[in-house]
Amino acid sequence: MAKIKIDLTNYLGIEKNTDFKGQQDKVFSIISNLYSSKSDLPAMTGWLNLPQDVSMFQDINDFVSKIKNADQYQHLLVLGIGGSSLGAQALIESLKTSLWNRLSVTKRKGYLTADFIDNLDPVIIRTILSRLKLDKTLFIVISKAGGTVETIVPMLIAREWVGENFYKQCVFITSKDKGILFELSKKHSVPVFSIPENVGGRFSVFSPVGLLPAALCGVDLNEIRAGLLEADSLCQIQDVRANIAAGIALSTYFSYLEGKNIFALMPYSTCMRKSVDWFIQLWAESIGKSQKGSTPICAVGATDQHSQLQLFNEGPNDKLICFIKISKHKRDLMIPDFSNDDPSFRVFANHKVGQVLNIELDATRRALAENKRPNLLLTMPELNEFYISQLMYIFEVATAIMGKLLGVNPFDQPGVELAKRYTKEALSRS
Ligand code: PA5
Repeated sequence: MAKIKIDLTNYLGIEKNTDFKGQQDKVFSIISNLYSSKSDLPAMTGWLNLPQDVSMFQDINDFVSKIKNADQYQHLLVLGIGGSSLGAQALIESLKTSLWNRLSVTKRKGYLTADFIDNLDPVIIRTILSRLKLDKTLFIVISKAGGTVETIVPMLIAREWVGENFYKQCVFITSKDKGILFELSKKHSVPVFSIPENVGGRFSVFSPVGLLPAALCGVDLNEIRAGLLEADSLCQIQDVRANIAAGIALSTYFSYLEGKNIFALMPYSTCMRKSVDWFIQLWAESIGKSQKGSTPICAVGATDQHSQLQLFNEGPNDKLICFIKISKHKRDLMIPDFSNDDPSFRVFANHKVGQVLNIELDATRRALAENKRPNLLLTMPELNEFYISQLMYIFEVATAIMGKLLGVNPFDQPGVELAKRYTKEALSRS
């Protein structure tokens, strides 16, 4: 079976850093420490256990079958923020496209449409709630802490709009045995899926937080799990050219030390935009500490070739760009030959659209390399459950390694917690 690959040529060749200054062994020992601590609570590496958690996958699949068989719901509304929202959004958009909600119920094979409220924007909250058939909506409220303002406020608004039946239409995903949502679940008999205590928000995509909403939209969890198991072994290989997480971490680390402290993730796929948003949160909140960290940014090819590429190619040489190529695009289209209309159209004839996209990616990489702009290439054989789960898991491991290389704790977020506390204090004063 084809594998996800990393090509480091345009990083190593440009930075003349052929052996990563002998740091591979350090990275492999970081990886084995991460894995050996995965059952310890304080280490917060429980997300490495998720691929093996057969019963969690089974429970989610059983719940989804129950919902589908009952035929009560058409829509899903997910209330959560940050790590409690972005992973599910990334999975659904990359596997079902951002146009999923526009498909008929038959085209959706009876799976639910999905909307997310992950901000306190009143216009969005009002628009989403007024557009949905509320009696046919399943509400998933996700918060590990249980009382996050941006999650609880829309929940209260939805509670008012739906009325007495609201809690009967809810599922909560929260910490076991503590927090507001857990208490509320007991009072109103709301089904609960737990977030393991040693899995932090931004590392929770492969817990019920990401998997339950995705499965309700028809994402195949068996394939996700197969991809995760594959990624789990890939991440433990002691060879940087095969261990993609190690390759990403080492190249971003050395780029950072060389003053290239912006890390641009550039998939050539519109469907992967939310996956980059997910990555940005993962990377920024994990490694931006103690005055250290590289800044993650989003660029989507080929769209941003007509936007940020100018800056990447001729602006300050302060970035490492990571391209993501999809070898075989789903439902690709052949470009028709209309060279009779205009002879210049001949160059497109008999190419597929996805092929042209990939030609553009290769050309952009080449142009950047000629301008001594370092870049990495990740190649995914296809954009499907098996490979997207691998890629996201690899990014989680790469992020954890990068944090450890920088000497920061990738699993806490003191800077975010402080703002949360100040908000609560200000609210109780006003
Ligand atoms: O990664 C994190 O820990 C954060 O982004 C959280 O996911 C986010 O703040 C939401 O927190 P909670 O799930 O507790 O509501």
